[in-house]
Amino acid sequence: MKLKIAVLPGDGIGPEISRVGVDVMKAVAERFGHEFEFDYGLAGAAAIRATGNPFPEETLKLCKDSDAVLFSAVGDPEYDNNPEAKVRPEQGLLAMRKQLGLFANIRPIQTFPGLEDKSPLKREIVEGSDFVCVRELTGGMYFGEKYESEDKAYDTNLYTKPEIERILKVAFELAGKRKKHVTVVDKANVLASSRLWRKVAQDMEKDWPEITTDYMFVDNASMKLIQDPRFFDVIVTENTFGDILTDEASVISGSMGLLPSSSIGESTPVFEPIHGSWPQAAGLDIANPLAQVLSVAMLLEHFDLTEEAKLVRKVVDESIKEGIVTPDLGESGKSEYGTQAVGKWLCARLTISDQR
Ligand code: IPM
Ligand code: MN
Repeated sequence: MKLKIAVLPGDGIGPEISRVGVDVMKAVAERFGHEFEFDYGLAGAAAIRATGNPFPEETLKLCKDSDAVLFSAVGDPEYDNNPEAKVRPEQGLLAMRKQLGLFANIRPIQTFPGLEDKSPLKREIVEGSDFVCVRELTGGMYFGEKYESEDKAYDTNLYTKPEIERILKVAFELAGKRKKHVTVVDKANVLASSRLWRKVAQDMEKDWPEITTDYMFVDNASMKLIQDPRFFDVIVTENTFGDILTDEASVISGSMGLLPSSSIGESTPVFEPIHGSWPQAAGLDIANPLAQVLSVAMLLEHFDLTEEAKLVRKVVDESIKEGIVTPDLGESGKSEYGTQAVGKWLCARLTISDQR
């Protein structure tokens, strides 16, 4: 298969994990006889410095002209600590999501064999957790009308029925391929926008009789997530709740550095880790590249390259089993590997590992 990939390394640890992601894709191409072409674009603080715009026109064009985007991370402390800043790296990510119409963000959460004790939660609670959060990505407070003055500010949590319907459809379809259980997470006891979500979901669930649909308030869901994560199969929720719940859910896996995501919608799909740019670690070669590598697996699955994706996941599992891991997953007394060393190991394994 021929694929044109737009690579957006971004800021902080972004370029380091991006390199590993691209190397893994090259190893897959080599092994399976595919032609993957990589073109690089600027995003985030790197783009602001070069062009003044966190998501320049040129990058948008590159994304639109590509089959998929491999994104890493954006964010920079220079902007985090300055509430007065007029442009922010994160606006680049939001612009990309909006301009590519990426309304569905799929965030799978699972435990990895051998890492159950990495979670601060008890093994018997997390073991076997396997669910997907379907986060609405182009609506809600992130994009609703905003107002900011010296003594007053607001964000508007606006959702329309078609926006809710299309994301719920993604969740129902996904659940149909999994354990057939959807949990709609909202705050319908307080928020008007949530009441619309619930009404639309209650109408739609009638068309999906094979799916068990339940409803949970977000405060309750945040507790249930760490008390009984195996309860969940597919969670569907609005942008802000999805952002918060998936960071929380990452403690189930034991490291933010393990969780990938895909964002799909009207234009080119984007594959990215759920973690941020971790600027404090930039250049230190300690960032875990596995979230990026698993984003590559999701990319391959998106194009029905199932065997390829399976092999990527297999070598990731093997690297964990054999202790070829970055410090966040290391055990005291055992040697730790750098970001690039883990990447090299994965690529070497990819070329020799058998496919079963
Ligand atoms: C995420 C990130 C972004 C978000 C930030 C960087 C704008 O936290 O992808 O979860 O809030 O969506
Ligand atoms: Mn987030």
